[in-house]
Amino acid sequence: METTLTQKLNIQYPIIQAPMAGGPTIPELIAAVSNAGGLGSLGAGYLTPEQIRDTIREIRKRTDRPFGVNLFVPEQTEVSEDIIEKMNNYLNETRTELGISLNSSTSELKETFNEQVQVLLEENVPVFSFTFGIPSQNIIEEMKQCGIVVIGTATTVEEGIQLEAAGVDAIVAQGSEAGGHRGTFVGEARDALIGTMALLPQLVDHVAVPVIAAGGIMDGRGLVASLALGASAVQMGTAFLVSLESGAHAAYKEKILTSNEDSTVVTYAYSGKAARGIRNDFINKMRLYSGTIPAYPIQNTLTRDIRQAAAKANNPEYMSLWTGQGVRLAKELTASDIVKQTMEQAAALIERLNKNKDN
Ligand SMILES: Cc1cc2nc3c(=O)[nH]c(=O)nc-3n(C[C@H](O)[C@H](O)[C@H](O)COP(=O)(O)O)c2cc1C
Repeated sequence: METTLTQKLNIQYPIIQAPMAGGPTIPELIAAVSNAGGLGSLGAGYLTPEQIRDTIREIRKRTDRPFGVNLFVPEQTEVSEDIIEKMNNYLNETRTELGISLNSSTSELKETFNEQVQVLLEENVPVFSFTFGIPSQNIIEEMKQCGIVVIGTATTVEEGIQLEAAGVDAIVAQGSEAGGHRGTFVGEARDALIGTMALLPQLVDHVAVPVIAAGGIMDGRGLVASLALGASAVQMGTAFLVSLESGAHAAYKEKILTSNEDSTVVTYAYSGKAARGIRNDFINKMRLYSGTIPAYPIQNTLTRDIRQAAAKANNPEYMSLWTGQGVRLAKELTASDIVKQTMEQAAALIERLNKNKDN
């Protein structure tokens, strides 16, 4: 199952462990996937430049194989004080319930994307991936000059075409089944909910660079299907979220392991940006809110204290439980077993399909 992309990334198997910002992608998980022949990736979007540098060094202590680091491309957001105040007042009801202090502040919102990029260059990471937009031409060129493989995220064919024109080496086709934030940067995320099976072949037909399938891929069947649709690799998030090495909160893992294919929804409630997660009390409560949800990253900052307090109290009803629609297929295994079983199942499936052809 060697592809042009596995060669370019210098990995054995076409399996990328999705970067997952917010805690799951700790060095132990990333290194385990890379050591098993896939590509481990750090979701570094919420980390400070220094935290990113330290984490990269921790990964390198555990593996000498390639790995990726993923960042969020910043976007301009203008939100009126009135909208923020109304939301803060609404969130205060939940804060009171959780017994935490009222009124979160957005004043600590500081953009550090350029400094984060600088750390990736200085540490010469093997792979740089990004979502929510396209970094400047300078950044993409500098990365490539340093020999760093650059991967962007698209949720539509148009976004893929723009990423290719910007010079990326490969594109993640993020289908609507995918857990976590939508990478949409052209138009509205609610209009760009294209399933992986429909998005992938259309994107493959319109770009020359390798395409990576993401969204709902949980095992060897998803891998073979993705390769058949023209993908050069798969990016799996939810499957690795419940792995033994994942840094996800125990209550979050438990929720995933007891959820069904219809347990997730796309919501703006936690961050102001569309994201797929397991529906819980907080999402239900925000559905009753009649005002405007402040855009990302403001809402994300406003709800941080609530998410942190819920995590501390082991209360999944107020934690963001980002998960994809393949959730019922999630198994609590080691990361290397997930890679191994996915490859074995894919190989057996290909053999079976070949036999059927002969009959
Ligand atoms: C908990 C979680 C966090 C995520 N964080 C990121 C991120 O930081 N950067 C990114 O590009 N994608 C992120 N994603 C999206 C994944 O890259 C990928 O598109 C998705 O996991 C694929 O769908 P699946 O979960 O069904 O495998 C995240 C997904 C999850 C589940």
